[in-house]
Amino acid sequence: MQILSLLTLATTVLSKNIVLTNDDGWAATPIRALYRDLTDAGHNVLMVAPVTQRSGWSGRFQYSYSKELLEDGQFNYRNKGEPAWGYEEDDNKIWYMNGTPAGCVGFALDVVIPKYFPELNNSIDLVVGGVNEGVNNSPQTFTVSGTIGATYEAVYRGLPAIAFSGSNSNNSFFKDDLNDDPLNPFNIYAKKSVQLIEEIFTKQGDNDRALPLGVGLNVNFPKAGYDDETCTNPVYTKSRIAGTDSGAYTIYLNETTGLLQDGPNDLTQALGVCYNGPCNYPSETEVVGGKVGHCKSSISTFSIDYDANSQLQAEVDSLIGGVFNL
Ligand SMILES: *[C@@H]1O[C@H](CO)[C@@H](O)[C@H](O)[C@H]1NC(C)=O
Ligand SMILES: *[C@@H]1O[C@H](CO)[C@@H](O)[C@H](O)[C@H]1NC(C)=O
Ligand SMILES: *[C@@H]1O[C@H](CO)[C@@H](O)[C@H](O)[C@H]1NC(C)=O
Repeated sequence: MQILSLLTLATTVLSKNIVLTNDDGWAATPIRALYRDLTDAGHNVLMVAPVTQRSGWSGRFQYSYSKELLEDGQFNYRNKGEPAWGYEEDDNKIWYMNGTPAGCVGFALDVVIPKYFPELNNSIDLVVGGVNEGVNNSPQTFTVSGTIGATYEAVYRGLPAIAFSGSNSNNSFFKDDLNDDPLNPFNIYAKKSVQLIEEIFTKQGDNDRALPLGVGLNVNFPKAGYDDETCTNPVYTKSRIAGTDSGAYTIYLNETTGLLQDGPNDLTQALGVCYNGPCNYPSETEVVGGKVGHCKSSISTFSIDYDANSQLQAEVDSLIGGVFNL
């Protein structure tokens, strides 16, 4: 009996090829926690992440223009003058590069794999961004986050991709903070990320792709563990990226200091529209903000078909129709 169930278990273990990156840098704790948990789950993970903090670099595609680092890496984990890309001495699947997150995806697929892991040529099953230090919810962060930018870069290239972000925004060095404490939010986020990834791979079965062509997922985790000890297993909740409570960045001129500072983040009108996707789903901001219940994670589906739908197109066509005769 026991042998039989062990055999059954063995045949159901999935081993997939995953490229992992983030925007907080290769030395950040949450990406190391996710690397550890995905590897422990039996996956073949190639991590290639920026050597510096690259939050807010969106989908900008930038790689190193020099052979050496021109400045110190984050947490001085690699320093000015050292090679601009390389890997951990004790693990050649953990790479850094002096570039943006989207650039790291390109570097992984175009250089690291063909040159050092040719057996992985054209066989990446999934690209994962994260877990990001801080949430990335609503359209304003979708276009700004480097973690999400890495995933749409992957989706442009035809690969399935998932971005994960967590409410804990500590910028933390893995050599200080990577541990096995089940209340460490980064461990909770990593565990939940692996659950979703494995669910998708299980459903994939014999299909070529884990997600439809041109599609990716954006996931946000709420405060958990140390930050909220009543939340240790945040439940996934379907969401949409746009919608109620989405905000836009604004600027405020402080007359006292004479300086510009962040303004109120409440210009929700345009971002509240629902043109695509299910309008009955709550927005990511509502889910992670706790409006649909405590301890919920948002999971949204994005597509890189940024064109307006045909009804909107028809409205716009009627407005611009005259120019085609000019
Ligand atoms: C992998 O791709 C590289 C670059 O295109 C090529 O030189 C190499 O022969 C390929 N190896 C395998 C095993 O497909
Ligand atoms: C994040 O920082 C806060 C305050 O410095 C600390 O209390 C908390 O334990 C840190 N969390 C993690 C996951 O490192
Ligand atoms: C303007 O700056 C001052 C000094 O830093 C600060 O005390 C004040 O709260 C600021 N005003 C607003 C509206 O944020």
